[in-house]
Amino acid sequence: MKHFINLKDISSNDLKKIILNARKRKSKRKNLNTLEADKDSPLKGKLLIQMFEKSSLRTRLSFYIAIKQLNGGALTLRPDELHLNKGGESLSDTAKIISTFGNAFMLRTDSEKKLNILKKNMTIPIINGLSPNSHPTQVLSDVFTIEEIKKKSISKLQICWIGDSNNVLNSLIEASVKFSFKLTIACPKKYKPNKKLLSWAKNNKGQIKIFSDCKGAAIGSDVIFTDKVISLNDNLNKKKKLREFKDFKVNSAVMKYAKKDAIFLHCLPRGSEVSNEVFLGKQSKVFQQALNRIYVQKSILLYCFDKLR
Ligand code: CP
Ligand code: NVA
Repeated sequence: MKHFINLKDISSNDLKKIILNARKRKSKRKNLNTLEADKDSPLKGKLLIQMFEKSSLRTRLSFYIAIKQLNGGALTLRPDELHLNKGGESLSDTAKIISTFGNAFMLRTDSEKKLNILKKNMTIPIINGLSPNSHPTQVLSDVFTIEEIKKKSISKLQICWIGDSNNVLNSLIEASVKFSFKLTIACPKKYKPNKKLLSWAKNNKGQIKIFSDCKGAAIGSDVIFTDKVISLNDNLNKKKKLREFKDFKVNSAVMKYAKKDAIFLHCLPRGSEVSNEVFLGKQSKVFQQALNRIYVQKSILLYCFDKLR
């Protein structure tokens, strides 16, 4: 059974197959409406159960549309309506019941531990739709978007991240190893990426450089990424953290350090880490980026169902 929890645990070959499949399927949908199924209806009659313990707009919409386009259906559970949250049912029993009724489970969670317990007890594939340490579906889709726009393999590009060392960056670090691209990171010294992950990247031929200023990281980049300084449910002194990141904002000056044809990406939702001018400017591809979640998640689902051809 194939889960989709962290990019690190999936082979480069499989990740590349997912991207290729997404490209093929997207190109074949030109004349179809949003909820019309792909001609081959590969997941006909299958049920995706999804649950969000944290807010979501894009992941929620894109998984719903993704499974519909594969001719399956989606059911979204509200955690506050389950026995689970009130202590009336164990996680392992919940996992077994979800596995009995559904064919795949997509979870956005506030706890890696919970994700692991569920995984252990599920007999259907589980997809990580964001956890405190990882946002793999987002980043794989971003690789797709970059290759779609740049029309070349991401391995030939330099990707720059400016901002917090959060779940999205963790997945980007994992992707940089799996897809062999150069990754430059600008963050305050105190907020460097996880040491264990960096040493995993180093041991696996990662090409990662960390800077404590935006200029160093942005020079020569093909893509500039950022994300909110305060992630969902971050329990910390928000004002203090925002102050510490005051020199790590993506504005026109930062974009000028990158290549002339560089693009700007942001998984959204956004905060003050990017100027309006950049976010709404010509180099910004954030809406194309958001929509592509549908196409890549369809192929992630097919990977999980072992139907990737
Ligand atoms: N980028 C992303 O995952 O958006 P949502 O939080 O709205 O799902
Ligand atoms: N890093 C952000 C991503 C939101 C999609 C968060 O975890 O809140």
